Amino acid sequence: MGIFPSTRMRRLRQHDWTRRLVRDESLTVNDLIWSVVVSDTANPVEPIAAMPGVERLSLDALAEAAKEAQELGIPAMAIFPHIDPKLKNDGGTEAFNRDGLVPQAIRVIKDAAPDVGVICDVALDPFTTHGHDGVMDGERIVNDDTVACLVEQALIQAEAGCDVVAPSDMMDGRVGAIRDALEAGGFQNTMILSYAAKYASAFYGPYREAIGSAAALKGDKKTYQMDPANRDEALREVELDIAEGADMVMVKPGMPYLDIVRSLSDNFAVPIVAFQVSGEYAMIEAAAANGWIDGDRAMLESLTCFKRAGASGIITYYARRAAKLLAG
Ligand code: PBG
Repeated sequence: MGIFPSTRMRRLRQHDWTRRLVRDESLTVNDLIWSVVVSDTANPVEPIAAMPGVERLSLDALAEAAKEAQELGIPAMAIFPHIDPKLKNDGGTEAFNRDGLVPQAIRVIKDAAPDVGVICDVALDPFTTHGHDGVMDGERIVNDDTVACLVEQALIQAEAGCDVVAPSDMMDGRVGAIRDALEAGGFQNTMILSYAAKYASAFYGPYREAIGSAAALKGDKKTYQMDPANRDEALREVELDIAEGADMVMVKPGMPYLDIVRSLSDNFAVPIVAFQVSGEYAMIEAAAANGWIDGDRAMLESLTCFKRAGASGIITYYARRAAKLLAG
C-alpha cells in the first residue's frame, strides 16, 4: 500500500482542476488587515526609504486609503503613527492627547469607510524620545507604571471609535488591566488583539524608520519582548492573555515564526493573527526590485503560508496589493 508505482503523488498535481480540488488553504481578502503609517506632517504622502511602495499618509490620504480598503473588501486597517519629534518626551504623553494623531486617524477612517474595522497599537514607542514602548526609570522599562499608561492610551482610542485595541508593548498584566478599564468605561464591545508572542526581532528595522523611532531608540527591547530562540514561552504568554481577556492573539514577526503560529493554533481555540512585519516586506521588495524573485508571487505565497500555519488573519503592508491581485 502506498508504494510506487501504485501510488504516484504527481497524479493529483497534473491538472489545475485537481490542484484546486485538493487544495487545503485559500487566501482571500477576508484574511487581510492593512497596516498603514499615518503622519501629522503637511505633506500628503512621504516615502519610507526602507519600505519602497509604502508611504506615510496624511489624514487626507488616509481617508482615501480607507475608502479603497472598503471598496476592496479589506476587513480592517491597523494604524501606526509618525508624529512630529517635537511632540515626543520621556513619558510619551502625546499618547494621551484626545485630539492627537491616532484619535484623529480613527475618526477619519470611521467617517470615510464605516465598514472598515480600525485596529490601534497600544504602546508608547511612537511618542517617547527614547523609543521604548514604556516609561523608564534609568535604564529600566517600568512594568506597572507603563501598564497604567497603556490603560489610559487604550481608553482614549476606544473613546475615539477604535474597534480593536492591540497592546504591542509586552508588559505583564496589561491585557487584564485594559480589559477591566474598557468594561468599567462602557466599552464592553471594544476588542483586544494582544501581541501575545512578540519577539525582540531585527525584522522591525524598517518600521522604526517609518514611525521615526529608529534614531531615538536607546538599547534594545530584550527585557520585554521575547527571545527568538524560545517556543514554550509563547504558549504561556498566550494562555495568560486569553485568561486576561484577549479576544485574539498575535504572533510577530510572521514568516520566521510560522512554527509558533502552528503551535498556538494547535493548542488554543482563539483566533490567531500573524504580523508580516516591515523587515519581511522589505526583504521581498528588495529581492523583487533586483529581479531576483517575482515579487507578486512571493507575496501571495508568503500570505498563503500564514494561513497554512494556522493564522485567521494577517497584518500586512501588502493588503491593498494582495486584495487587488486576489480580485483579479
Ligand atoms: C512597537 C511596534 C513595533 C512594530 C509594531 N509596533 C516595533 C517594535 O516593537 O519595536 C513593528 C511593526 C513592523 O515592523 O512592521 N510597539
